[in-house]
Amino acid sequence: MLAIEDPIFSKKIFQLGKDAQNNAYCPYSKFKVASVIVTKDNQVFSGCNVENASYSLTICAERSAIVQMITAGQTYIKEIYLFSNSSKFISPCGACRQMIAEFSDPSTKVILLNQESHMQVFTASELLPLTFELETSNTQA
Ligand code: THU
Repeated sequence: MLAIEDPIFSKKIFQLGKDAQNNAYCPYSKFKVASVIVTKDNQVFSGCNVENASYSLTICAERSAIVQMITAGQTYIKEIYLFSNSSKFISPCGACRQMIAEFSDPSTKVILLNQESHMQVFTASELLPLTFELETSNTQA
């Protein structure tokens, strides 16, 4: 069962997501994104996108949430939610998929939510197969 399917957790996740989305700093794209992470021990962290006049410095919502999680001393994503305020789903960019992979295992779920709260659920490895990992890198020396 996903945390969002539990009535108490659901309220918390939606509230954090809504607050983070309101705080998104996106004067250039005007595209507000929020992400909420649930850890193994059910701690919850949120993040929003933070843009910059030098566009390429923009940080996506997923990576903002990951930074919050790591700062709090947590390193494992059980679930990561991505909130869209349109009927379309937002799917993590390539950089975020690699960053999610760093703190995931095969059971980690990536949940995309549109404004009607419809969900699409993926595993982190479905979104990024053949992840680059130093220990398991198959590149030949
Ligand atoms: N963005 C995210 O925050 N997460 C994604 O998964 C895709 C894109 C942000 C980055 C930028 O501020 C805005 O959406 C438009 O690309």
